[in-house]
Amino acid sequence: MLLMRHSMLLAKLAVLIVLPFLLLCYGVGNVYCSTIHENREDLRSLLDFKKRISSDPNGALMSNWTTNTHFCQWNGVNCTSTPPYRVRELILTGLNLGGEISSSLGNLTSLNYLDLSNNSFHGPIPLLNKLQNLEYLLLGSNLLQGVIPDALTNCSNLVTLDLSGNNLNGLIPPRISFLTKLAYIKLYSNHVTGEIPASLRNITNLQLVHFSKNQLNGRIPDEVMQMPNLMELHLNQNNLSGSIPEVWQMPNILVLDLSVNNLSGRIPRALSNVSSLQGLSLASNMLGSTLPSNIGDALPNLTILYLGENYFEGHIPASLGNPPGLGVIDLSSNYFTGQIPNSLGNLSQLSSLNLDQNMLQSTDNEGWEFIHALGKCRSLKKLSLSINRLQGAIPNSIVNLSSTLTYLLMSENNLSGTVPPRIGRFSSLVQLSLDQNYLTGTIEEWVGNMTKLERLNLRSNSFVGIIPPSIGQLTRLTYLFLAENQFTGFIPPSFGNLKSLSELHLSYNNFKGGIPSELGSFRVLTILNLSSNRFSGGIPETLGKFEQIQTIQMDQNILTGNVPSTFRTLNTLSRLNLSHNNLSGPLPDFLNDLKSLTKLDISYNNFQGEVPTDGVFANATIISLNDNPGLCGGATDLHLRSCHVGNKRVGVVNYLIKILIPIFGFMSLVLLVYFLFLEKKTRRANASEQSFGEHFEKVTYNDLAQATRDFSESNLIGRGSYGSVYRGKLKESKMEVAVKVFDLEMQGAERSFLSECEALRSIQHRNLLPIITACSTVDKVGNVFKALVYELMPNGSLDTWLHHKGDEEAPKRLGLTKIISIAINVADALDYLHYDCGRPTVHCDLKPSNILLDDDMNALLGDFGIARFYQGPQSHGRFS
Ligand SMILES: *[C@@H]1O[C@H](CO)[C@@H](O)[C@H](O)[C@H]1NC(C)=O
Ligand SMILES: *[C@@H]1O[C@H](CO)[C@@H](O)[C@H](O)[C@H]1NC(C)=O
Ligand SMILES: *[C@@H]1O[C@H](CO)[C@@H](O)[C@H](O)[C@H]1NC(C)=O
Ligand SMILES: *[C@@H]1O[C@H](CO)[C@@H](O)[C@H](O)[C@H]1NC(C)=O
Ligand SMILES: *[C@@H]1O[C@H](CO)[C@@H](O)[C@H](O)[C@H]1NC(C)=O
Ligand SMILES: *[C@@H]1O[C@H](CO)[C@@H](O)[C@H](O)[C@H]1NC(C)=O
Ligand SMILES: *[C@@H]1O[C@H](CO)[C@@H](O)[C@H](O)[C@H]1NC(C)=O
Ligand SMILES: *[C@@H]1O[C@H](CO)[C@@H](O)[C@H](O)[C@H]1NC(C)=O
Ligand SMILES: *[C@@H]1O[C@H](CO)[C@@H](O)[C@H](O)[C@H]1NC(C)=O
Ligand SMILES: *[C@@H]1O[C@H](CO)[C@@H](O)[C@H](O)[C@H]1NC(C)=O
Repeated sequence: MLLMRHSMLLAKLAVLIVLPFLLLCYGVGNVYCSTIHENREDLRSLLDFKKRISSDPNGALMSNWTTNTHFCQWNGVNCTSTPPYRVRELILTGLNLGGEISSSLGNLTSLNYLDLSNNSFHGPIPLLNKLQNLEYLLLGSNLLQGVIPDALTNCSNLVTLDLSGNNLNGLIPPRISFLTKLAYIKLYSNHVTGEIPASLRNITNLQLVHFSKNQLNGRIPDEVMQMPNLMELHLNQNNLSGSIPEVWQMPNILVLDLSVNNLSGRIPRALSNVSSLQGLSLASNMLGSTLPSNIGDALPNLTILYLGENYFEGHIPASLGNPPGLGVIDLSSNYFTGQIPNSLGNLSQLSSLNLDQNMLQSTDNEGWEFIHALGKCRSLKKLSLSINRLQGAIPNSIVNLSSTLTYLLMSENNLSGTVPPRIGRFSSLVQLSLDQNYLTGTIEEWVGNMTKLERLNLRSNSFVGIIPPSIGQLTRLTYLFLAENQFTGFIPPSFGNLKSLSELHLSYNNFKGGIPSELGSFRVLTILNLSSNRFSGGIPETLGKFEQIQTIQMDQNILTGNVPSTFRTLNTLSRLNLSHNNLSGPLPDFLNDLKSLTKLDISYNNFQGEVPTDGVFANATIISLNDNPGLCGGATDLHLRSCHVGNKRVGVVNYLIKILIPIFGFMSLVLLVYFLFLEKKTRRANASEQSFGEHFEKVTYNDLAQATRDFSESNLIGRGSYGSVYRGKLKESKMEVAVKVFDLEMQGAERSFLSECEALRSIQHRNLLPIITACSTVDKVGNVFKALVYELMPNGSLDTWLHHKGDEEAPKRLGLTKIISIAINVADALDYLHYDCGRPTVHCDLKPSNILLDDDMNALLGDFGIARFYQGPQSHGRFS
């Protein structure tokens, strides 16, 4: 008990002794606080900085930037570890802060690290020249404006300067080399102009220079390519010109990106001085000449090589097969010739090889061996060989390429033969493009196995057979181009599975049967092209469910019935072509309500009734309604008959026409027969020699562009209402030709093309201009391109002989015998057209400019653009 009381006393004593001590400690705390309050300068600066921030959606500053807590505890603020406690770091990144950056930050003289990147600060970069301790200045990804202040170069300890992704303009500060400690400078994605300062060379610590996506111009200073510690140099996407400096001294360089500029000349030999290089991009410049043959040996550590879109020529150096880590090669859009080196097969890391748009050849087995060699590249994902001169069959060894292949592009070559069926084993393929070749055979065996395909382009080949039901397994397909082949049969019902399709092109084949109603479930379809097949039956009502459709082309089929009324909801539809079918019934009453419709062609059908004058029908240049005998009314420009009979004047005119035409026709006939008898005997001998047989030559857009030097003015020999005619020489057959290019902007041009194709398809005569071929495709930029190719008539048109043009040398003269002989030739041609060609044809446009003269001055009749065919008694005596 006594002991207990004793210990209580001791405890009280202890409390009495400890308490003042505790109080003393507390007092020390107060002292500590008051010394901080003495340093009001940094506090004021931070408060001023806060005041100028106009938006702080996450409350980053509002929550604790108050005087209740010490500023060293504020979000994003870090202070020196010893008194006087000054702001050492201010890090406020990715907080969506808005407003101007206060220049009060320029008074935080102990600041070492300022990171305000990835916000929405606007206005100028503040004056920070007093920040002698600043090492890191990160203001990237904001909306800062104005120039880069030269005063920044007074922050002499800067190591990292990142001003990328702003709206800065003006020059790179000329005194930039005052920042002698600078190692990283990023100014990319601004609007900086002027030249790159040569003085960068004096910043010996520079490791990274990232100036891409600005408007820097002038030459690249030699000094910039001579920085001993430089590891990355990005000058891409500027406006740099001139040649690349010859001397490179960058022993530590890893990445060199000079792409998308206006650099010219060749690759300097100094390339072999940068053996450390891993990534080299010189793409999209005007560089030329051949590649250094030792490029692969000089750059042993190379992993990425982009040289596309230049003017490089010569062979692809075999040494490119040597850098063991090389994974990406892009040499596209150059002028490389010769074979693709087999050595590329040694690149075990190769994942992407793009050789698009060159002049690479493979004419024999040896030329194709590279495919076999590439079989060793087990990581290959993308192989693009489009637009080259690869020739012959795709070798079977293609199936030995890595099963990881996702892109296989071989468009626009001269490939022929069948596709090896085992190509189906590329089950990872996302895109297969074999379009614009001469491939044949069927696709049934292989197409269904490529279940990951998103784009399949087989357009413009000679594929035959059906679309197999297995196509329904390609559920990821977004683009399907099967147009311009010889596919036959019905569209399988499984087609309905292709619900991701955005574009479907089946035109110019021999598909038959009904249009499957399943197509209606393609909710994201934007283009449906079924032109020129043998689709029959009605247009399915389900097609009215398209939600994004822009173009529907179903012309030149044998569709019947009317346009389903469900089409009235196709609010996105801009082009509708239903011409050349057997559609009938009243003209749909909603076409004028389709707000997006800007092109409508329903010609050559049997629609009936009054044409509205509003909506799409208000503009005669964007609609085509002709040869629908039952249509009347509409805008006056359409020149349709009036719906209200009894107009007397029109009646009289019609009456006159009915009387005059037969009389005139009879007289012409008499003349014609007379001429025929006069000359026929003498000309029998060489008849029918010039016929051009069934085989039409196949030409591509590129062939024609090449033949006419890109449709140059100098090759222009005439211009007509529907297009222009160019002189040219086909490369393959060496034949001199006249190419008539239809201007599809002109109303009626497309019809004229079809009409002429139709006319010339079945008729041939020594006095009719022989057609070599027709070409209906898309041009380089994807516009529809239609042209007809004729033999070139060396003596031009009769028009130029009759109507002498002022500035020509000597007037051309035709003797009487020539004139008579020409008249007889023309009469011969007309006789044939009207009576002997199986289907009476009326030329409708007989005039001197359409009569052409061959080298013996024989006359040949051309231009069937508005020709009409007489269909026989059941069509009420009308030409249709
Ligand atoms: C503040 O700076 C010190 C010293 O540089 C550092 O150790 C500490 O991690 C920093 N604190 C914060 C929150 O950044
Ligand atoms: C920028 O900040 C946003 C959040 O505001 C973040 O989602 C984004 O990843 C950041 N970007 C960078 C490059 O830091
Ligand atoms: C910076 O500090 C100076 C001197 O203390 C003062 O006069 C000036 O107003 C301060 N600047 C800003 C923007 O706070
Ligand atoms: C920058 O530093 C130079 C020399 O050190 C000095 O003359 C100049 O006044 C300073 N400029 C500014 C804006 O502080
Ligand atoms: C680089 O520094 C040297 C020596 O300090 C000087 O002579 C030269 O003018 C500087 N070069 C540039 C381009 O500033
Ligand atoms: C690019 O530089 C050339 C001179 O080299 C100049 O004529 C042209 O205007 C510049 N283009 C742009 C977009 O700055
Ligand atoms: C590129 O440089 C050439 C001269 O080398 C010049 O003619 C051309 O205008 C330049 N192109 C651009 C876009 O500046
Ligand atoms: C190539 O890379 C290897 C490994 O990264 C490195 O050891 C070697 O020094 C590099 N070669 C050159 C020439 O830089
Ligand atoms: C396609 O796949 C089926 C089933 O997986 C298989 O039986 C057939 O052999 C494959 N065809 C090809 C060409 O790979
Ligand atoms: C008719 O359409 C054409 C082609 O879109 C356009 O150029 C023209 O201005 C239009 N005319 C009227 C009267 O809207």
